[in-house]
Amino acid sequence: MDTIFDSIKDIALKIDNAIKNSDLGYSQSSNSSGEDQLKLDVQSDLIIEQTFKSVPSIKAIVSEEKEGISVLHENGTYTVCYDPLDGSSLVDVDLSVGSIFGIYEDTLDGDGLVASAYVVYGPRIELVICKRGKKPIHYRYMGGQFAQIGEITLNDKGKLNAPGGTQQNWTPIHKNFIDSLFKEGYRLRYSGGMVPDLHQILLKGGGLFSYPATSDKPNGKLRQLFEVLPFALVYESAGGMAIDDKGGSLLSLKPSFVHDTSPCFFGSRYEIEALKKAYGV
Ligand code: F6P
Ligand code: MN
Repeated sequence: MDTIFDSIKDIALKIDNAIKNSDLGYSQSSNSSGEDQLKLDVQSDLIIEQTFKSVPSIKAIVSEEKEGISVLHENGTYTVCYDPLDGSSLVDVDLSVGSIFGIYEDTLDGDGLVASAYVVYGPRIELVICKRGKKPIHYRYMGGQFAQIGEITLNDKGKLNAPGGTQQNWTPIHKNFIDSLFKEGYRLRYSGGMVPDLHQILLKGGGLFSYPATSDKPNGKLRQLFEVLPFALVYESAGGMAIDDKGGSLLSLKPSFVHDTSPCFFGSRYEIEALKKAYGV
């Protein structure tokens, strides 16, 4: 599996270079979730596919930017599901974006998820790698290499609140709960890029990131295989919690199709327990 992580380090440098130097316009196409694709989305997807083609342990890949499953090496062990450039529409306003990877063995669901990784492209390039059963490890690109910064551990209670979705489409229960956190002194931290938003909560000790079921998106917006499950593993491994709106662990999710979504909540223990109470789950 370490060869996969080495290839993710290569990918991170290539995508960072593309972000800094490539055309920011739209391509002529949209992805499976109906979102218009930027040329950078397509380019990042291609960089990942080309790099993974030389990693024999990768049996297949599934991309947020492509329709189905592509087999790379029949005898490989892992299927890597990835979001090549999460938050890509933020590049033209120079906010941070990211890439997310879920590494699955046997089944494409929470049980089959054996490791995950994400890259943050911000003022610096950061990488977090999480193997099942171990703490997430934080790396920063410095002096020509990814230097290990340390393990990530969430506090039991944090201070940040990152509420996703359009407020007018929230349920009254969700709105009351988010308001109650602000009344308790939580501070709003939401850029609209799930990678930097979740990374900030992890590194600043804790808080809550939510993307609930909304009236316009009853099944949430974020995709299980490429976005929700990889971060669920990171949060649970850091000592936090990651649940859906029925109170179950996101790691129990079984997507019905590769682009399936789910309402999702990631946070420290205190905020997730409070959310369960508010939702009555
Ligand atoms: O990939 C979807 C995404 O761009 C995430 O990065 C982000 O957290 C979310 O959408 C933002 O959605 P909204 O603008 O509805 O809060
Ligand atoms: Mn995304």
